[in-house]
Amino acid sequence: YHNLHTKILGKKIIHFDTIDSTNDYAKKIGNEESEGAVIISEEQTKGRGRLGRNWHSNSYEGIWMSIILKPNIVPYKAPFITLIAGASIVEALNKLGVNAKIKWPNDIILNEKKICGILTELSAEIERINHIVLGIGINVKTMEFSQEICDVATSLYKENYIVSRVDIVRNILLEFESLYLEYINNNSKEKVLDICRRHSAIIGKEIYTIRGEEKELVRCLDINEEGNLIIKRNDGSIKEIISGEISIRGI
Ligand code: BTN
Repeated sequence: YHNLHTKILGKKIIHFDTIDSTNDYAKKIGNEESEGAVIISEEQTKGRGRLGRNWHSNSYEGIWMSIILKPNIVPYKAPFITLIAGASIVEALNKLGVNAKIKWPNDIILNEKKICGILTELSAEIERINHIVLGIGINVKTMEFSQEICDVATSLYKENYIVSRVDIVRNILLEFESLYLEYINNNSKEKVLDICRRHSAIIGKEIYTIRGEEKELVRCLDINEEGNLIIKRNDGSIKEIISGEISIRGI
């Protein structure tokens, strides 16, 4: 990882050939390790996705990494960090010529299929954050996906983008650090929101919001100043969505 022009992110990089899950490892060492440490593995034997799902993490096929963060902010401000991560991944990929989009709040999409997921895990007390583990999984070289996900998942190589993993990691860490420090130090969200709007996979589109068994077709209007999603329901009413599973029509 030469040429990593960051101040704190990736100053320490812990690399594995194989591990159960980089998020699990980061959670174990999170309290002792200093901010900005990056754990990266070529393979995960128990890669985890959101909502208890499995995350396929074969050897050398992707970027499986976790970043340890220790922001001095109140816990309720932590979810925005997932959005910062999404924005930095999308921005980094676009600067490398990949037309990736962000599906608020957790997924990165390429040609209508998912290439990247983010799993943020927070260890906090009432008023204080101990640490945050920001897990990022990017499908880079995967050519075949299991039957359950092959209709919804893709990789950079599969979409004919041949990009080096080191370049992607370097660019993400660089983008993330600058947006993260602006948020932590100045409470500034502007650039993140701008990126999320410019590279949104869902703004202006009809999407399904899914809550448990309930599925509702709505129009996605915007992301507001807090980073929440603004949608319009069928009856014309406008609603703000703070988090929750959403699925885009046709994807
Ligand atoms: C999702 O979209 O469901 C989130 C996927 C997150 C996967 C990454 S890979 C590195 C880190 N370690 C894990 O076990 N999961 C995250």
